Amino acid sequence: MTETMIGVIGGSGLYEIDGLADAVWQAVETPWGAPSDQILTGTLDGVKMAFLPRHGRGHVHSPTTVPYRANIDALKRLGVTDVISVSACGSFRDNMAPGDFVIVDQFIDRTFAREKSFFGAGCVAHVSVAHPTCPRLGEACDAAARASGITVHRGGTYLAMEGPQFSTLAESKMYREVWGCDVIGMTNMPEAKLAREAELCYASVAMITDYDSWHPDHGEVDVTAIIATLMGNADKGRDMVRRLPALLGADRAPCPHGCDRALEFAILTAPE
Ligand code: ADE
Repeated sequence: MTETMIGVIGGSGLYEIDGLADAVWQAVETPWGAPSDQILTGTLDGVKMAFLPRHGRGHVHSPTTVPYRANIDALKRLGVTDVISVSACGSFRDNMAPGDFVIVDQFIDRTFAREKSFFGAGCVAHVSVAHPTCPRLGEACDAAARASGITVHRGGTYLAMEGPQFSTLAESKMYREVWGCDVIGMTNMPEAKLAREAELCYASVAMITDYDSWHPDHGEVDVTAIIATLMGNADKGRDMVRRLPALLGADRAPCPHGCDRALEFAILTAPE
């Protein structure tokens, strides 16, 4: 058994949680540079927690400039075992409406201007990301969100785009009709891949803010409307996070899906 530590990567509002004991903001340095911001650590219902504002307090990092490697490494160094990503997304489905949450289980990674691996020159490794999210952690997020009265969709394919502009109408239709994606966002990749390389369980809770640009009854994506929906969702997100420690518990058995052993047969470079 190891000790659970839940790491939440998300926006502002999520970490203003009542009952977080011994709360302290910590600066963490990593070989990959500084993470997006200091990390708020504390204990909730007897379970260790860490909160990292993905874009930094004051929203200073764009989806492209978020230091994804430093963020994941900083959480790992603090002892995090389970990463919950909370992010905004657009919807490609009529029945997935703004205000709903999606427990994403697959990704198509269309980002191209980000560092995507801890490995490379000097140490080569190839991990599997066939199943990039942890079903055990997804189940806990699903249960927590349902208990909070949120409309949740379990499972969905997330198109990770580079941004910062939103999609063209042609792209939006292609992602939806040809590629079969359910939601679109700019931040979950390479975060999910790096979490797997770091042998961390990773679940993604995507909060729908809009219908992207494909929907005939809705206009173009508008950042003001996105922020308004996000503000409306802050309480829901916080309520969901508040329930996670009780669901996951302080003692952690090895991940039944092997997320915590992802590197076992992945490293090709011989040790020196
Ligand atoms: N984040 C929220 N809505 C989005 C959209 N429609 N496309 C990309 N990222 C988003």
